[in-house]
Amino acid sequence: MNSRLLFALGLSLAALLPSPTSAETVWLDQLDVRAAIQGWGTPQKNKTVDGNPLTLDGKVFKRGFGTHAESVLNIKLDGAAKSFSASVGVDDEVKKNPASSVEFFVIGDGKPLWKSGVKRAGEAASVCEVDLTGVKALVLKVGDGDDSIDYDHADWADAKFETASTKTFVTSGEPLLPPVAPYILTPAAPATPRINGASVFGVRPGSPFLFTIPATGNRPMTFAVQKLPRGLKLDAQTGQITGALEKSGEFTVTLVAKNKLGTAKKKFRIVCGDTIALTPPMGWNSWNCFAGEVTAERVKQAANALVKSGLINHGWTYINVDDFWQNHRDSKDATLQGPTRLPTGEIQPNSRFPDMKGLADYVHGLGLKIGLYSSPGPWTCGGCAGSWQYERQDAQTYAKWGFDYLKYDWCSYGEIASGGDPSAKNIPLWGKTATNQAGAIYPYAVMGKFLREQNRDIVYSLCQYGMADVWKWGDSVAGNCWRTTGDITDTWRSMSTIGFRQDQAAPFAKPGNWNDPDMLIVGEVGWGRTHPTRLSVDEQYTHISLWCLLASPLLIGCDMEKFDDFTLNLLSNDEVLAVDQDALGKQAVCVLKQGDVWVYVKELADGSRAVGFFNRSVKPVEISFKDFAPLGLSGKQTVRDLWRQKEVAKIKVATAALPLTIPAHGVVLYQFTKVK
Ligand code: GLA
Repeated sequence: MNSRLLFALGLSLAALLPSPTSAETVWLDQLDVRAAIQGWGTPQKNKTVDGNPLTLDGKVFKRGFGTHAESVLNIKLDGAAKSFSASVGVDDEVKKNPASSVEFFVIGDGKPLWKSGVKRAGEAASVCEVDLTGVKALVLKVGDGDDSIDYDHADWADAKFETASTKTFVTSGEPLLPPVAPYILTPAAPATPRINGASVFGVRPGSPFLFTIPATGNRPMTFAVQKLPRGLKLDAQTGQITGALEKSGEFTVTLVAKNKLGTAKKKFRIVCGDTIALTPPMGWNSWNCFAGEVTAERVKQAANALVKSGLINHGWTYINVDDFWQNHRDSKDATLQGPTRLPTGEIQPNSRFPDMKGLADYVHGLGLKIGLYSSPGPWTCGGCAGSWQYERQDAQTYAKWGFDYLKYDWCSYGEIASGGDPSAKNIPLWGKTATNQAGAIYPYAVMGKFLREQNRDIVYSLCQYGMADVWKWGDSVAGNCWRTTGDITDTWRSMSTIGFRQDQAAPFAKPGNWNDPDMLIVGEVGWGRTHPTRLSVDEQYTHISLWCLLASPLLIGCDMEKFDDFTLNLLSNDEVLAVDQDALGKQAVCVLKQGDVWVYVKELADGSRAVGFFNRSVKPVEISFKDFAPLGLSGKQTVRDLWRQKEVAKIKVATAALPLTIPAHGVVLYQFTKVK
C-alpha cells in the first residue's frame, strides 16, 4: 500500500518507539512524534514548531515535543505506563502575539485525565502530572483555546512517562472516520464540445481584455464568437479573446466551440463597466503548497499544469503568487531592506523571480491570468518587503509588469496603526488584531484607490482575516474579495469551523464582491513540504460543495503537478462549479439544522436552488427528508444530483419524502428546479 492510500484510509503515520533508555523513564521525544497531526508546520522533537529551543516564560527546556494547535498525538500504552508528566505552555517565540492561546488535554481511553485551561504566550508553564495506571490508549491533544489556531505554538516540555517495564509505544495520528477509499462522482466530460464556466464577464473600459473560452471535448477544436463587440478579437485556435473595449456597455455574445463530433454554443454576457470579478475568481495560489519555497519556475509549472490537466477548460484562470517573491526596494546596498531606506526604489523580486514581466507574459500566453501578493505594512507576513509608503508605486509596478490580481495581507500593518516604529529592525509581524475600524479600513482604501488608477483590471483581494467586519466595507475600498477568517489548514476541524461559519457575511456577497473563507486544501498541500490532504474523501466533497455554495473565490492550494484522478475530478465538475460561478452572485446560508444535518441553500440566476445537505457527524446518516418549506421550495420540482450530474427525482414538495444517504462528514448536493 502506498503512503497516499494510507493517508486516505486515515491511518496516518505510525511508528515504533526506539528502545527506551531505561525501564523507568520513557521520554516523549523518544517516540515518533512526527506521527502527530497538527494545524500548522511539522511536529518537532526537542524544538519548537519553528525550530527554536523550547522556551516557556524564559525557561529553556532541552527535551520535549514542539507542536501547533490543533494537535493530536495518539500513543498506544497498553497499560505499560504508570504516569505521564510535562511542563506545557505557549512558546515564547510567539510571545508578542495576543492571538496565541491554546489548551492542553491528556485523554486516557477516551476519558479526560487532565487539562491545562487556556494558556497564553508569556505565561509560566503548567505542570501536568497524570496517573496512567491501566490506560491503554493515550491522547495528547492541543486545542486552539477557542479562538483561531493563529500563532498557537505549543510545547510539551520535559514530557515523559514512568513505565512499569521496558516497552515500545506506538504513536499515530487520529483515525477519526471509518476508512473510505477515494471514489469519483464526476462523470467524464463528453468528447463533443461543451462550453463551461461563468456566463458573464466584467471588464473596465480601456483595460486589456483576456478571456479564454473554457470548453471540454476532443481536440482539435475551433472557436467562434457571434456578435463580438468592436475592440475585441478572437483567436479561433486557442479560444482566447483579447483587445479592449472603449466604452461601457453590455454585450450579449454567443460563444461557439466546434470539433469533429459537433458544435456547442453558449450565450455569454460581457459587461464593460466599473465592476470586475462578476463571478468569484477561480485559480491557484502558491501558499498552501509552496509557502516560502515558491519560485518563478514553479509558478510557470503550475500554469502549465492548469492547462495540461484540462482545468483551464472548466474556467480555472488565475495563477497567483503568494508571499516570498519580493526582496527589497532597489538599492545598491542589498543589506538594507524595505523601509529602513526610503528613497524612490521600485520593489525588487528576489533571485528566484528574475523577470516578473516575463513571468506575467508567459502566464498570459497560456490564456491565463496572474496574481501577486503584498502587505499594507512594511513587511509581509513572511517578513518580505511590503507596500507601506510605496502603495502608489507598487500599484504602478504591478500594472507595468502585467499582473491581474493582488492579495493584500495585513501582517505588519498593525504596528503602524498602533504607533509602532516601522523603521525599527525586526518589526514584529503580529498585526492581526486591529480594533480601530477606521485604522483597519484606511490602508485598504489607499491601495484600492491606486489599483483603480491603473489602466488594468486588477482583482483586489483583501486579506485581514475578517477584522472590523470587512464584508461591510470591503466594497467601499474597491475590494473584490476579502478573507473572512484566519488561515485554513487541511483538517476537518479547520475546514468545517471556517466553512460553516460564514452566514453573517452572506448578505454582502454580490457580483464584484465575494466573501473568502480561504483557499482550497485538497490534493498535495503542505506549506513547503507537501503531503496528501488530511481531509477524508467525503470531507473533500463537503469542502468543494460548501465553498461553491458560499460563492467563494476558488483558489486551488495544492501542487498541481501532483494531481491524482480523485482530486482532478473534484475540481472539474462543471455542474458543481456552476453553483459557485452563478451570475446572480448570491451566497448560500444555512436554512435548517436537523441534528447533525445542516442544510444550505443558494438561489441561482435561473430561479432554481442549489441545496447542500451536510452531515457533520462521524457516522453516515440516512433520512427521509420532508421539511422543504425552509428551503424556499414549493410545487413540483426536479431534483438533480450535481456531483453525479443526473436527475434523481421529481417531487411534489407538499407530500414528498426524499431519501438521503449522507456519508460521515459528507454531503449530498442537489439542485431543485421548479417544473413549469
Ligand atoms: C497570511 C495569509 C496566508 C498567506 C501568508 C503568507 O498568513 O493569511 O494566506 O498569504 O500570510 O505569509
